[in-house]
Amino acid sequence: MNAKPIGIFDSGVGGTSIWKEIHTLLPHEDTIYLADSKNAPYGQKTKEEIISLSVKNTELLLSRGCKLIVVACNTATTNAISYLRENYKVPFIGIEPAIKPAALNSGTGTVGVLATKGTLSSSLFLKTSKDHAGEIILVEQEGVGLVPLIESGKINSTETKQLLINYIKPMLEANMDHMVLGCTHYPYLIPVLREILPPHVKIIDCGAAVAKQTLAVLNKENLQNPKKTPGEIQFYTNKDTKILTSFLEDVDELKQIAYLNF
Ligand code: DGL
Repeated sequence: MNAKPIGIFDSGVGGTSIWKEIHTLLPHEDTIYLADSKNAPYGQKTKEEIISLSVKNTELLLSRGCKLIVVACNTATTNAISYLRENYKVPFIGIEPAIKPAALNSGTGTVGVLATKGTLSSSLFLKTSKDHAGEIILVEQEGVGLVPLIESGKINSTETKQLLINYIKPMLEANMDHMVLGCTHYPYLIPVLREILPPHVKIIDCGAAVAKQTLAVLNKENLQNPKKTPGEIQFYTNKDTKILTSFLEDVDELKQIAYLNF
């Protein structure tokens, strides 16, 4: 048993989609979330830059006593999680595009993947695609411009919708029946995506699987918080607290949302 907090970081507000899954499954755990929005998007940065930003976020979470860290960002996971695991003692949970379940369930044999350049060009993504989607046609698309639009609260704008229409077109032309969301910002686009996609196309997002994996690791390492009262919730952003707050309006519990220069 361990009453210390779980640390979670992302390049910005997107990882709140993962935080919500974790908090739903583990309501008694204290959590600290870092939104590194000042440095978003990570997706266009080099591997070295992504590692260095991930180290900065990790060190801050460790300085606040975190017992486990969730890298709630596909780009940071696919580029930096091995470095983090090699250099820090706490367990790290990551997220990468859920190609495996999409490939297993695809009837047409074509799966679309929308993710950042950093994720799609990573060796971890290449390995996962080779291992689990060798027989499948993967239509990969970089979601250039989407993270900045989401970070500025423009989810329902015409610009966002138009970008999505353009990005999805080649996937539909190739007859995809599953679309993998390979960035933790993108679950917030699901309502817009559902307007554009034909009903038979299934959207795959693995936030809930990350929460289950977090629970499994807490159990395995005996790190569960023994308390029965609701967990303390702290959110920090190094940019705009208003934007971060707008992504947490559906969270009823008492939470602290603050600016922090990190
Ligand atoms: N949420 C990050 C991810 O899952 C966004 C990446 C970015 O900042 O470009 O990849």
